[in-house]
Amino acid sequence: AIERTISIVKPDAVGKNVIGKIYDRFESAGLKIVAAKMKHLSRAEAEGFYAVHKERPFFNDLVNFMTSGPVMIQVLEGENAILKNRELMGATDPKKADAGTIRADFAASIDANAVHGSDSPENAAIEIAFFFASSEVYAGR
Ligand code: CMP
Repeated sequence: AIERTISIVKPDAVGKNVIGKIYDRFESAGLKIVAAKMKHLSRAEAEGFYAVHKERPFFNDLVNFMTSGPVMIQVLEGENAILKNRELMGATDPKKADAGTIRADFAASIDANAVHGSDSPENAAIEIAFFFASSEVYAGR
């Protein structure tokens, strides 16, 4: 089925100047960018976006990292987009990510891991609505 998912190019990858290289992975895999914005997240925004992780021991480090510089946020659309994006990203920990994945090629650590992607249709819908009004998502272009 045609799905939409959230992708975030994190502060480490924005700082390394590889937004375009990461976008090329999406487009080469048949995913379309149907919304995008660059944003320096506030603490409240990062905490809200990652609310599902708030009891985890890494939550504070995660919020600190995600507010350390601007991120590039996009909605990807395409066949099986949620799983396809997760395959392109590779494992959360870049040491465990398959060769040729975004995290294997651009990430330094489990914290500075270059990209985020929604993990389920439910979370994709929540995460898209967190950052974009429906009028900002350009379907079927
Ligand atoms: P992300 O997909 O953005 O979702 C939550 C983030 O927390 C994850 O990527 C990692 O960058 C970060 N994180 C740090 N430590 C862990 C951990 N032990 N397990 C999962 N995520 C972690």
